[in-house]
Amino acid sequence: MKIAYMVGSLSSTSLNRGLAKALVSLAPEGVEFVDLDVGSLPLYNRDYDGNWPEVATAFKKAVDEADGVVIITPEHNRMYSAVVANAVEWSSRPWGTASLEGKPVALAGVSPSPVATGIAQTHLRGPLTFFGSKLYPHEAYINAQQAGITPEGGVAEGSRDFLAQFIGGFVDFVKASE
Ligand code: FNR
Repeated sequence: MKIAYMVGSLSSTSLNRGLAKALVSLAPEGVEFVDLDVGSLPLYNRDYDGNWPEVATAFKKAVDEADGVVIITPEHNRMYSAVVANAVEWSSRPWGTASLEGKPVALAGVSPSPVATGIAQTHLRGPLTFFGSKLYPHEAYINAQQAGITPEGGVAEGSRDFLAQFIGGFVDFVKASE
């Protein structure tokens, strides 16, 4: 099984990158994880239609080939990040070929605030519902201090089981969707 993931922060000390590393390290064996490297995508505009940059074509192909996608987003001003919004736009084009259509998708995110990306993720469910993605119903609204998330992928002992169950449950969800 192949699971693609995107991290919606470009920060060199990103907590969300750390959460992604933690999820990958806690996942069941036998799953191949592919980093979608969404930070390399230029800002989408429709002038690219018919003449996509190689990096966007590779991104679209990686999403298409994945059995499931995990979107790990920071919360910026109560919204998912512009990096995620841009990647979602690329994935939705050309018109009629939305790559997240029917795709199992899990959402996760970490922030230092008590909101813990819950509002951002709630917004993100809107476009995913529009695409008809198969939304994993379990929530991962992670507070960085409580869960001990570090940019290097560290997790507090008390949060390891929760995150392992979250990603393990998504793997089962993807299998059940096949
Ligand atoms: C934030 N932050 C933030 N946090 C939050 O919980 N809710 C929010 O609405 C916002 N808004 C916001 C806007 C902008 C422009 C920035 C830069 C930051 C704080 C944010 O959660 C924190 O910087 C995280 O560390 C961002 O994730 P990464 O970049 O560490 O992965």
